[in-house]
Amino acid sequence: MTAALKVAVVGAGGWGTQHARIFAGRADTDLVGVLGRNPERTAARAAAFGTRPYTDLAIMLERERPDLVSVCLPNEDHYEVTLRLIEAGIALLVEKPLVFELNQADSLIDSAERAGIFFAINFNHRYAEPVVRAKAAIDAGELGELNFLTWRFGGEPNLGASAHGNLIETQCHGFDLLEHLAGPITSLTAQFGPLVDGSHRDLALTLGFASGAVGTMLGSYGSSYAYPGSQLVELNGTLGRATIEDTVRRLTISKSGDDVARVWQAGYFDDEARSFHGTFDRHVEAVITALRAGAPPPVHATAGRRALQLAQAAITSNETGRRIETPMD
Ligand SMILES: NC(=O)c1ccc[n+]([C@@H]2O[C@H](COP(=O)([O-])OP(=O)(O)OC[C@H]3O[C@@H](n4cnc5c(N)ncnc54)[C@H](O)[C@@H]3O)[C@@H](O)[C@H]2O)c1
Repeated sequence: MTAALKVAVVGAGGWGTQHARIFAGRADTDLVGVLGRNPERTAARAAAFGTRPYTDLAIMLERERPDLVSVCLPNEDHYEVTLRLIEAGIALLVEKPLVFELNQADSLIDSAERAGIFFAINFNHRYAEPVVRAKAAIDAGELGELNFLTWRFGGEPNLGASAHGNLIETQCHGFDLLEHLAGPITSLTAQFGPLVDGSHRDLALTLGFASGAVGTMLGSYGSSYAYPGSQLVELNGTLGRATIEDTVRRLTISKSGDDVARVWQAGYFDDEARSFHGTFDRHVEAVITALRAGAPPPVHATAGRRALQLAQAAITSNETGRRIETPMD
């Protein structure tokens, strides 16, 4: 494949702007359409990115015959449209969370597997410069053996119909990132705060990793993304510690017993690495490379199922007061 890939974006909401921007801006992709529900808003979005608006999925697929569809729908509306796209046999990049129910996750993954479809999910945090560098430090043994990890992520609420929106749609990045960096989580316990506006606003988890490391996870919809450190990842090993602040803001690596730390933060002109949105550009680069090479997606949709499986285990733990084993299956 040397011609530009034809890409359509499904969903013309807030984050859908990033999908449209990226695929309209790349030299190796043509944004062939944007699908939305509201004709005026969809027309405005399509016009902003020099493409065609659609409000009917079947018509868009028939006319544009995209090589890839990028799906960016409201959190709780992913299942039906994704299944239709799988049934249409089209390569997919879908937003997190995959879905809210494990049976729906299984149905999507099994259908895509049977149809042999490229099925990627946007866990873009993996591509943040501090995360890439922290992973390299871990893999090179710089931190020694990881013995504890911390994830904290909180901001304004993003309320939907589910009581577990915070856990499933926001903290899914944490489940994915901690396993990406430290390997499988094999058990967990959870304590949720009371329902506020129909949703568990605050939650705290303890985690056990297959490696023997332990971890904690704190997620909140009762905080603010305006606060510095609204996201924090701490990776403590026997030889050193890495802390990641606000995904893209800063990585600090310290050696045990050494008062002097090594810090990465984007240089004056390095807007690309400083940008949260840039993590998605980087992921798309990896997605397009894999798709063109006929290789599996860099982050397969099964990672979305795994994050959901861990979230469901946390719900069970909170309800029963018990620690839950979380094998990979
Ligand atoms: N990976 C990330 O860093 C990141 C960041 C922000 C949002 N997201 C994810 O992106 C997704 C969308 O978030 P958002 O903030 O843009 O939501 P949003 O509610 O602003 O936008 C969703 C859009 O989809 C439209 N829509 C709903 N049903 C549709 C249908 N059947 N066909 C076509 N359009 C339909 C809605 O009208 C709306 O315009 C969510 O899953 C969210 O979790 C991911």
